Amino acid sequence: MAAKISSDLIARYAGNLPRYTSYPTAVSFTDAIGPQDVASWLKALPAEQSVSLYFHVPFCDELCRFCACNTAVMRQEEGRKAYGALLLEEMRRVIALIGQGRLVRHLHFGGGTPTTLPQDVLREVMAAVRRAFQIAPDAELAMEMDPRHVPEGMLPLLAELGFNRISFGVQDLNPRVQETCGRVQSYEQTLACVQQAHAAGVHGVNIDLIYGLPYQTVESVKDTAQRIVAMRPDRLAVFGYAHVPWKQKRQQLIPQEALPGTEERVEQAAMIDHVLVEAGYKPIGLDHYAHPDDAMARAYEAGTLHRNFQGYTIDSSPVLLGMGASSISMTPEGYYQNIPSTAAYGRALKEQDGLPIARGVFRTQDDRWRGKVIETIMCLSAVDLTPYIPEGQALSQAFAAELEALRSFEEDGLIHWQGNHLSLTEKGKPFLRHVAAVFDARQKELAAKQTGQATPRFSASL
Ligand SMILES: C[S@@+](CC[C@H](N)C(=O)[O-])C[C@H]1O[C@@H](n2cnc3c(N)ncnc32)[C@H](O)[C@@H]1O
Ligand code: SF4
Repeated sequence: MAAKISSDLIARYAGNLPRYTSYPTAVSFTDAIGPQDVASWLKALPAEQSVSLYFHVPFCDELCRFCACNTAVMRQEEGRKAYGALLLEEMRRVIALIGQGRLVRHLHFGGGTPTTLPQDVLREVMAAVRRAFQIAPDAELAMEMDPRHVPEGMLPLLAELGFNRISFGVQDLNPRVQETCGRVQSYEQTLACVQQAHAAGVHGVNIDLIYGLPYQTVESVKDTAQRIVAMRPDRLAVFGYAHVPWKQKRQQLIPQEALPGTEERVEQAAMIDHVLVEAGYKPIGLDHYAHPDDAMARAYEAGTLHRNFQGYTIDSSPVLLGMGASSISMTPEGYYQNIPSTAAYGRALKEQDGLPIARGVFRTQDDRWRGKVIETIMCLSAVDLTPYIPEGQALSQAFAAELEALRSFEEDGLIHWQGNHLSLTEKGKPFLRHVAAVFDARQKELAAKQTGQATPRFSASL
């Protein structure tokens, strides 16, 4: 099992940090970037550029108290249908800018719970996608699902529409944890979903777990992890609970005193890691595990893993087009986010021309190379800085400030240098976000401007 981390180290490094699903991170997005900027970015995409697609559906059948996602309960069939029409309209506007026929290797429906979309709407959206894009024969088509609410016929429909990867939320199997989180989901419900997915011909199965939830203990997460690996998903995501009640009001229902402390969280993460590694899974970056035969484990080994708004991915496209309220997109020029409120997103599409964009950020040259360094660290727990050193300079000149900041990491045995190659040690693995943050110039700039800010912008880093 991974080495125990001392209380002293935890105390010195604990804090709040970004998860680096992009660089610049979303806190740098402003309304200085709007629909017209993005229209010019999209029109400028080379004709041969492939794209990835993301559809955000901000609805659930019921809400879980721990959930930090942008989602709400939508029971009316009419509301769900109307949202499908908005997705189609947004896609039509995007296609008018980028043209038809582009190759798609990755498509992801997330939320919320995207299977709240009526089945005829899902059919319609996928038919529109297939008319406007060329889906690669080996494309990854993924859908997030809630095992407590699987509409009759949904899994066979997804298989028919070409989906080959399903991600199921589980989080924890302990009854007390589940009740406190407002997410009661039996072991049998989850197992039935995994089996139904396989029976329908969808063989890629991911399961999400969380540590740091109220009333979890090292023993309880061990039990959950052991029972979940017995289902043999080919990937697992193991997130640290992000308690951000200042951003997500429903988390105020989580009793603060029931939350495990930082040391306990680190031990829970180490225990889950132990169970999954013992069961043959390969740890990937901050929070993923994959079966060694899985494409993500192979990409990790080959050094071709990527990180985007969906977390770790084998998707290498520099263009990710997000559709739906609050979805975030990426182009070589910059990132942008759609209007977060579902109602306002709908109004924008009905009452105005153009894309329903709220804010974004242009990526400077500095952002681009820093983004690459940060992504490499987040994916591989290591980075060779040689390509980023200007000609005629030494590492110590080009990265003077970063080397200074990394000195304590080295003294604490968290990182190791070999020439210009920086790698995290086994002991340093929980500090991935901390090492990445050393290369984050935007965060330092924001922190300098906003000293004394009342609430943190990010979740706990450990
Ligand atoms: C869109 S949901 C998954 C699909 C489906 N809605 C479900 O719950 O089964 C996305 C995932 O984000 C993770 N998540 C949500 N809120 C979180 C939080 N506060 N901290 C850590 N992970 C969180 C959970 O693991 C959850 O499964
Ligand atoms: S965890 Fe899933 S089902 Fe629960 S509120 Fe979040 S998105 Fe909805």
